[in-house]
Amino acid sequence: MIVNSVEMLANAKKNGCGLPAPDYFDYDSAYVYTKTAEALGIPLILSYAQVFDPFFPLEEAADIGLYFAKRASVPVALHLDHGTTEEFVERAVKLGFSSVMLDASKDSIESNTKRTAAVVKMAHPLGISVEAEIGHVGSGTEEGDDAVYTQADEAEAFVKATGVDSLAVSIGTAHGVYKKMKPVLNFERLSEISKLVDVPLVLHGGSGTGDDNITKCVQLGICKVNVYTEFLQACGKAFDETVGADLHARRAAAMDNMRSVLEHYFKICRSAEL
Ligand code: 13P
Repeated sequence: MIVNSVEMLANAKKNGCGLPAPDYFDYDSAYVYTKTAEALGIPLILSYAQVFDPFFPLEEAADIGLYFAKRASVPVALHLDHGTTEEFVERAVKLGFSSVMLDASKDSIESNTKRTAAVVKMAHPLGISVEAEIGHVGSGTEEGDDAVYTQADEAEAFVKATGVDSLAVSIGTAHGVYKKMKPVLNFERLSEISKLVDVPLVLHGGSGTGDDNITKCVQLGICKVNVYTEFLQACGKAFDETVGADLHARRAAAMDNMRSVLEHYFKICRSAEL
């Protein structure tokens, strides 16, 4: 059944556990994430990122996401990840997404606050949950890290001013593959933010962060862990290992590897305790 992400994240916060939020980028990934969550009886945050639009347009993604979310035996939040414009967020809402992120984290705090509050005002009457980000989670693939760590007092004021349902924080993770840098997480900062902010916290850049780091983040208040790159890597590995096999066998191997990655994240986030 399709739901917004408020109740599942509130339960995660209450029980001190987390939920991975895997990004789906085609039919197979949406299928395997849903089936894995159903097999384990764990709610799913089925996420689609705006950057996929050029190769997997929003309209197609919405149809596929809704197809699985509506039929699932577990609650599924169909979530727009990193919506960067209000126009795209509104299109996702009209198409049936039940949860959205407006990512204005590169704006000034004033602009981020204003834009996020406006999205909350539009989305809440429709029963749609809203995530925002302050500070900025950078990209591990770039030479220099463009991350800006989240300030705890700023996070507290931002949540109060916007009415946002969950907040992505920047504490040392990066999107993509960690090439030149290893993740060094600022757990002290996360604890400070957790003390001041009462909405569930979100960690972006889950891939490559390391099991112990993820588990510790969840203990310290992270309720949602975004993961994408490790699913791509899992597919790539399956394709490398099945060269010469027929297409169906190769797809099955890729889906099998994606299933293992999601199972692993459910485990290290202790999602079964939800
Ligand atoms: P990774 O690709 O590093 O797992 O990050 C995913 C993410 O944060 C999507 O919002």
